[in-house]
Amino acid sequence: MIYAPKEGFGRTARIQSMEDYQFLYRKSLERPEEFWGEMAQALTWFHPPETVLDADTDQVDFSWFGGGRLNACYNAVDRHVKENPRKPAIIWAKNEPGQYELITWRDLKHNVGRVANVLKAHGVKKGDRVCIYLPMVPELAYTMLACARIGAVHSVVFAGFSADSLRERILDSGAQVLVTANEGPRGAKRVRTKAISDEAVEGLSQVRSVLVVRRTEADVPMKAGRDWWLDQEMSKHRGTCPVEWMAAEDPLFILYTSGSTGKPKGVMHTTGGYLVYAVTTHRYVFDLQPDDVHFCTADMGWITGHTYLLYGPLANGTTTVLFESIPTYPDAGRLWQVVDDVKATVLFTAPTALRALLREGDAYVKKSSRKSLRLLASAGEPINPEVWRWYHDVVGEGRCPVVDNWWQTETGGVLIAPMPGATPCKPGSATLPFFGVEPVLVDDEGRVLEGNGVSGNLCIARTWPGQARTLWGNHQRFIETYYSRFPRLYFTGDGCRRDEDGYYWITGRVDDVLNVSGHRLGTAEVESALVAHESVAEAAVVGFPHELKGTGVCAFVTLKPEFLDASTEQMMGALKEQVRHVIGPIATPDQVRIVSGLPKTRSGKILRRMLRKIACGETQDLGDTSTLAEPSVLDELLTQQSQMQ
Ligand code: WT7
Repeated sequence: MIYAPKEGFGRTARIQSMEDYQFLYRKSLERPEEFWGEMAQALTWFHPPETVLDADTDQVDFSWFGGGRLNACYNAVDRHVKENPRKPAIIWAKNEPGQYELITWRDLKHNVGRVANVLKAHGVKKGDRVCIYLPMVPELAYTMLACARIGAVHSVVFAGFSADSLRERILDSGAQVLVTANEGPRGAKRVRTKAISDEAVEGLSQVRSVLVVRRTEADVPMKAGRDWWLDQEMSKHRGTCPVEWMAAEDPLFILYTSGSTGKPKGVMHTTGGYLVYAVTTHRYVFDLQPDDVHFCTADMGWITGHTYLLYGPLANGTTTVLFESIPTYPDAGRLWQVVDDVKATVLFTAPTALRALLREGDAYVKKSSRKSLRLLASAGEPINPEVWRWYHDVVGEGRCPVVDNWWQTETGGVLIAPMPGATPCKPGSATLPFFGVEPVLVDDEGRVLEGNGVSGNLCIARTWPGQARTLWGNHQRFIETYYSRFPRLYFTGDGCRRDEDGYYWITGRVDDVLNVSGHRLGTAEVESALVAHESVAEAAVVGFPHELKGTGVCAFVTLKPEFLDASTEQMMGALKEQVRHVIGPIATPDQVRIVSGLPKTRSGKILRRMLRKIACGETQDLGDTSTLAEPSVLDELLTQQSQMQ
């Protein structure tokens, strides 16, 4: 079924018809410099760009808005203080229901300025990296914007990651300052943020200062000379701090994400291109209106938080909601309650949250009014058509367009999405490319698939302003990861179908990356965590369809001889705990299958495809098994699988 654009919505929409969309889309491809030059005017530049694009695709070297100088914090904060000092910039919805704090643009500027001065007093200079490991508190936004203000590069690490993961990211980025909190309330739990931070920086002389947000009353050990309470430090400084005018291509932030090898990648975004792309996509994809209250439930530790919770809305002068809790606390009605309390006009969440809420029944939704809502958005993983329809029919009561938008940490902002006032939607399809984006489907041999009704590897044929420029400290890895599989094309790692109408349907990752509850996880990362356990000889990790998480984690493990007598039950528990400890709770395997051998070819290569099929229960269709070095291994796997069903 096709859902036509909403009547009425079209009258105020920025893009009111498919003709408008096609006109601008064509212009963006035919005259990209003119198009993006115009879009760049939405920002305030200290010095306007002299060129729009300077690209060397062979060298994988892209430069947007050359000669331009600007500051991301000035665009997100200062310019709105002048126009709207009393407008709420951030509505902080605290963990406990009913508790809100309004932060006006004037307050925001003052607090950002003070944090910026604190960072300077702790030796942070332009170009230095600052690692931020915080729950969803206002200081998180202040610190990111403070970094941007003084030209420091922020690296936000999701506060659900383990000490090992945090340490690895601090080391890779070379950050000398860490900003954390004593604790982070999250639903009924409290994350021991400071304790994890202490473990992460233990013995690391690289980290000079640890600034600690006092989120709860909890007393935590403070190491003299290294640890400082942020509130005390802020009280020593003024709220005014000059902005550093940055070159358009100067780095704004690093954000680590998982790849197909074990080591996380520090995706690097620049100031000018990223910010132009953030404001442009925020304006069109969410059909920005002047009085919007933009409620994006993503954690700031992911790109969605960076682009559509912080930079996009704030730089566009839109009130944004910072949600500290989780959608199921204290019950499955929480999101709808927040929507009503803050009068959210746009709700942007992830399919995994919607699946969990749908399961709890419609009563929780219907208890709320939701009449402020005018647009519903979803991203992070494919949205199941029945979940799309529930979002549309029950949550939006058929009034609000559903905007399923596809993109990645590396793309900086949305690449494929409907225009909410214009594009007819098909549940489960992110529909059509955004302005300036040229998707290409390629078969495994690298042949471009022309026309409609084709499936292949999703690539993007030309650069766009929000594209990541490099991986921190490793441009060669950037080239190898994204530009070597299909020369001159950006390879997304996703499989995709273009249907008869030219609509794009993302079919999921085609590399060794799993999308677990919308979080990216490398199978290799989980495998190294398992192999680091004293009992494990070998591990192979694959994904399988999971009702709530989208993809679940299944680990096949062989044990060292001295552990073969251990109880299977206990061993499974210990190995789940191991992954949780090494990476973080999001990576905890759903299944651990202890086996006496992994299926391998004669040359010793693990047959992952076979393991994937077994984990998915597709045992009838294992393909060619003649390459197996030891056929008996397969019998054991199949017996185990049949016992599980
Ligand atoms: C991967 C990127 C939305 C950005 C935040 C996640 C999957 C993302 C969709 C969607 C189907 C989607 C892809 C992509 N994905 N959005 N609307 N439909 N799949 O960024 O953590 O870098 O993950 O998420 O597989 O490659 P990320």
